[in-house]
Amino acid sequence: MAKQKINKDRKIFEDVFDALTVRTLEKLKSKKHFAAISGIIKSGKEGQVFNAVAEDDTPLAIKIYMIETSSFQKMQDYIKGDRRFFSIGNNKKKLVYAWCAKEYRNLKKAHECGVSSPNPIAFLGNVLVMEMVSDNDQPAKHLAKTKLDNPKQMYDMVLSEMKKFYFDAGLVHADLSEFNIIIRDGRPVIIDVGQSVLLNHPMAKKFHRRDVENIVRFFNKFDLNLDSEEVLKEFEK
Ligand SMILES: Nc1ncnc2c1ncn2[C@@H]1O[C@H](COP(=O)(O)OP(=O)(O)OP(=O)(O)O)[C@@H](O)[C@H]1O
Ligand SMILES: [Mg+2]
Repeated sequence: MAKQKINKDRKIFEDVFDALTVRTLEKLKSKKHFAAISGIIKSGKEGQVFNAVAEDDTPLAIKIYMIETSSFQKMQDYIKGDRRFFSIGNNKKKLVYAWCAKEYRNLKKAHECGVSSPNPIAFLGNVLVMEMVSDNDQPAKHLAKTKLDNPKQMYDMVLSEMKKFYFDAGLVHADLSEFNIIIRDGRPVIIDVGQSVLLNHPMAKKFHRRDVENIVRFFNKFDLNLDSEEVLKEFEK
């Protein structure tokens, strides 16, 4: 078991830290955007999120998008139709870099507009450095894994963040669910905004409906009796 785990960790390490990514990390480090990486929070097929620290020991999260394993087709659906990213063409590395830049820009916009979301620090290539959202000195847990004492109150807070994201930041999240909301001090924090699109994106309406349906489905498990059509109307104002 231990040996299998070591082999698996080594495979992840080799997949993520290819020579180009290592150089990118070195550049970000030399510009003092972070001081050290200390562990892994989440490993996925397309990207990994690591614990890190800044020069002054502030905890950070570093997300590294993997170029080889990213789903080219899926990413293109979100980038195509976004006027901020015209000239990507069919180059996978360029697409992943654009995706990472897009997550940085979306986070920046959301954060500036007062959405509860991680403050982005820097990005380069396929690497994004951001604020670590912690709860009790641990990376904050997903909404899905949080025991809710007052689901209606949590729903109201989530809806309020969704409205700020939509009306103030002018974005549709496009992958919103109980797994892309984490809980800090009992309040929701919206994460994972790489795929988020501007309101004028040709698919924005469809993505927005799906986000609303996901949130309604989750909270209706707590007998809130929400109706997606009614919730969608709140976004027409
Ligand atoms: N800034 C952050 N602070 C704390 N934890 C974070 C932060 N960013 C990401 N995480 C953790 O890392 C996980 C993966 O991050 P994120 O959802 O952005 O990446 P992803 O690769 O798109 O994941 P998935 O495909 O599972 O949605 C999150 O579910 C969360 O647990
Ligand atoms: Mg996610």
